[in-house]
Amino acid sequence: MTVPSLASSLSAAVTTAAAALPGFVPLVRRSGRADFQADGALAAARTLRRNPRDVAAEIVAALPAGGLVAAAEVAGPGFVNLGLTDTALLAQVAGRLADPRLGVGTPEAGVTTVVDYSQPNIAKEMHVGHLRSTIIGDALVRILEHLGGTVVRRNHVGDWGMQFGMLIQYRVEHPAPVTEAATMRGLALLYRQARAAFDADPAFAERSRRRVVALQGGDPETTAAWRRIVAESTRYFTEVYDLLGVRLTGADAVGESAYNAALPGVAADLADQAVAVTSDGALCVFFDDVRGPDGEPTPLIVRKRDGGFGYAATDLAALRQRVTDLHADRLLYVVDARQSLHFRMVFDTARRAGWLPPTVPAAHVAFGTVLGADGRPFKTRAGDTVRLVDLLTEAVDRAREVVAAKNPGLTGAARDERARQVGIGAVKYADLATSRTRDYTYDPHRMLALTGNTGVYLQYAHARVRSILARADGADETVDPGIVLAPADRALILDLDGFADVLDEVVAGYEPHRLCGHLHRLAQSFTTFYERCPVLRAEPPYRGTRLALCRLTGDTLRTGLGLLGIDAPERL
Ligand code: ARG
Repeated sequence: MTVPSLASSLSAAVTTAAAALPGFVPLVRRSGRADFQADGALAAARTLRRNPRDVAAEIVAALPAGGLVAAAEVAGPGFVNLGLTDTALLAQVAGRLADPRLGVGTPEAGVTTVVDYSQPNIAKEMHVGHLRSTIIGDALVRILEHLGGTVVRRNHVGDWGMQFGMLIQYRVEHPAPVTEAATMRGLALLYRQARAAFDADPAFAERSRRRVVALQGGDPETTAAWRRIVAESTRYFTEVYDLLGVRLTGADAVGESAYNAALPGVAADLADQAVAVTSDGALCVFFDDVRGPDGEPTPLIVRKRDGGFGYAATDLAALRQRVTDLHADRLLYVVDARQSLHFRMVFDTARRAGWLPPTVPAAHVAFGTVLGADGRPFKTRAGDTVRLVDLLTEAVDRAREVVAAKNPGLTGAARDERARQVGIGAVKYADLATSRTRDYTYDPHRMLALTGNTGVYLQYAHARVRSILARADGADETVDPGIVLAPADRALILDLDGFADVLDEVVAGYEPHRLCGHLHRLAQSFTTFYERCPVLRAEPPYRGTRLALCRLTGDTLRTGLGLLGIDAPERL
């Protein structure tokens, strides 16, 4: 049985107490002044045309004493401050400990979500933009699944377009030894060389254009060359996902080309329904509220003037397939904020075409830019985009130093694995901890700090808990319902209590940073608790109860970090 949070039990109690006050919506929050504060009386008083303090007093009077609530009083203009009983707090700890799900329910059961994330481009390096999409997407996937949901991962790989003409043509004219070509450096080189030839040599450009036609026409030799390039890139992406510890496999990669066959039907349907119209030879969808700087409407181009299909048509075909064939109840697109207009137009078009029923929400889970120390988009010193592998390798190398300083006894493969867990965890946490729509500055030094809001700090807090439990050596961990709690015990219990509720908040706004904030507060409360309250030196029954609190803290940190895709090693 999932134990409801104290916050929700309290909310229910306040609602019952306010039964005589129509329009009262309890808003129960943690508070610095009491355990919780309820503000709902203010809004209700406005509707009822009454004095808010009188309304609050009525609620206070109607709250049953004992049980859950130890103290209730009117505060400020009409808030209700609420203190909980020690017994209620201790019962909550006991309930959570007995529940392997730590109070987390399955509100997503029966809901299928298709998450579009990562989306690297074939024959191109993955960069920091793909990092954000990959790890935000991965965290959302893990959380939705943990809440009982069904998730279909879609890695919408960029595997189609004009550039393949020049890549294949160059490969055909300059066959590369397979060993070299099989590396990403080989592919990146191919891209640069093909581009240079395309720009410099009109005859090569012409042959490349003919190659595109051959690719579109399914010419066997051309298709084989294309497949080989796709396979090489995919192998490389998989290595990066393994290093990142991201749960994406080849089966989740459904590239843009997978929708080619559906594109003419998409265009025909939109034209038949008059959602799209021909303008200047192109098939376009217009929107009242989308205009360029010149005031002219900016259309979504479904089919270009030359008859070719692009990015928009592919997204429309993918969307229709996700709703119709995959039976999605919700669609998420974890993509750079700069594409927000594109998604607005795609979603709006799909709604008008009836492909996206009103019951199926579609969200562009947009994210901001990663900045360098100079406050500009993160680049190498030479001004190139930073290769994701280089960035990750550097973080793992730095983490190796942090690990070596903390744990000099650890060597060899074990130290390498720990460095990977810490370095990758640091990169992920620094990204996930910022509200996703904001830009953030990439700072490898700060993200690996042992103090502050970092992944390392959380991993360290978890490792400390584990070492306390190891030192307790199997001692009794029973919660005694009769003990008197110290303020630091209470604060820790109340933070532990918020775990399940924060996951609901994460899903409500697709905001993993809320979970980061929660875990960080929890680690801080644990630090204060451990400074102020003796654990191993405490006498029974305090000892057992506090060991139980350590156990619950460790489990919550490990589960929470796991939902962010971050490992929680036993030691740092
Ligand atoms: N491959 C694209 C890029 O690197 C992102 C694709 C986003 N997903 C989508 N369904 N449009 O910019």
